[in-house]
Amino acid sequence: MTTKIQATLIPGDGIGPEITKAVTAILDHMGNPFEWDVQHAGLSGIDASGDPLPQATIDSIRRTKLALKGPLTTPVGGGFKSINLQLRQEFELFANVRPTKTIKTDGRYDNIDMVIFRENLEGYYIADEGYMEHNGDPKGKVYSTGYNTKDEARRITRAAFDYAVANGRKKVSIVHKANILKLLSGMFLEEAREVAKEYEGRVEVDERIVDACAMQMVMYPEAFDVIVTTNLFGDILSDLAAGLVGGLGLAPGANIGEDAAIFEAVHGSAPDIAGQQKANPCAFLMAAGLMLEHVGLNADADRLKKAVIDTVQAKDRVTPDLGGTGNTMSIAEAIMDRL
Ligand code: NAI
Ligand code: MG
Repeated sequence: MTTKIQATLIPGDGIGPEITKAVTAILDHMGNPFEWDVQHAGLSGIDASGDPLPQATIDSIRRTKLALKGPLTTPVGGGFKSINLQLRQEFELFANVRPTKTIKTDGRYDNIDMVIFRENLEGYYIADEGYMEHNGDPKGKVYSTGYNTKDEARRITRAAFDYAVANGRKKVSIVHKANILKLLSGMFLEEAREVAKEYEGRVEVDERIVDACAMQMVMYPEAFDVIVTTNLFGDILSDLAAGLVGGLGLAPGANIGEDAAIFEAVHGSAPDIAGQQKANPCAFLMAAGLMLEHVGLNADADRLKKAVIDTVQAKDRVTPDLGGTGNTMSIAEAIMDRL
């Protein structure tokens, strides 16, 4: 008997519990290699223990170093600080990795296959903000500062290039705005260039300014392979990339650190459809697929991915967002039938 891999499972808020039920059923069907330690966070953390990020959840991830996390609702404006941000900081999850690949055959593009490495701890996500006086109004001006460090610029770039080497990828594009943000983005570019030199002859490198990059991703997305960029640019470009292949319903993401990794869907808790069995579990399932790859179970990951792709392409019992009339569990059953 093989021993199971300990992993934390956070069902999360909104559609989280529904898609978690579907995903765990599918993993069980294929002989789930994980032993789940179920924990709470977000609004369900408040319900369970009065804390949006309970100590028990942190302790569990510190022990397992591996988590599959459902979407967490973050109140806009006031309320508590984003738990997703807190988790990234707590476990120093410096890389946000989002693969994007064409799945739907009737989409606008046929052969998109790119992976975005987004720096996950610094940049404008520091959100050090405040008010200043302007024209007699003490709050008439606001400012926000970000910072980047050489260490993180190097670490995320190295992660992108190492990934390119390990996965037979040909090119890494460094995306920046160094023409305007000469220090914040300029330093990132300088450090990324230095790291790129270590991979000369093995991986090609190119440089793109973020606004032009956004246009090029829409005009000829097949030209992109691996992208490495700072936090806010990566946030925006990875949603753009998800849109190119048919939206959030199929987009997974990984938050990777030296000591822990948390896998999630790119989408949120979708309160508008929560509790209605309309949620598409595929993005969360693809996140579980990334987790299988992370622990070296590549054959299982490939099997899972293939079953999802075949189901979506056949439109077999799929959810409304994929053009079907099925529900969360019917698409799960269609996927299980193919495993
Ligand atoms: P959202 O991604 O939850 O929803 C956007 C739209 O996509 C909605 O119309 C929703 O119904 C649809 N949608 C999302 N996931 C779907 C799925 N699996 N199947 C079918 N349709 C789906 O984004 P929104 O509405 O901006 O955010 C809702 C909450 O989620 C907020 O509190 C936000 O802070 C949180 N959020 C959490 C994230 C995380 O935990 N990683 C990421 C993004 C948002
Ligand atoms: Mg985002």
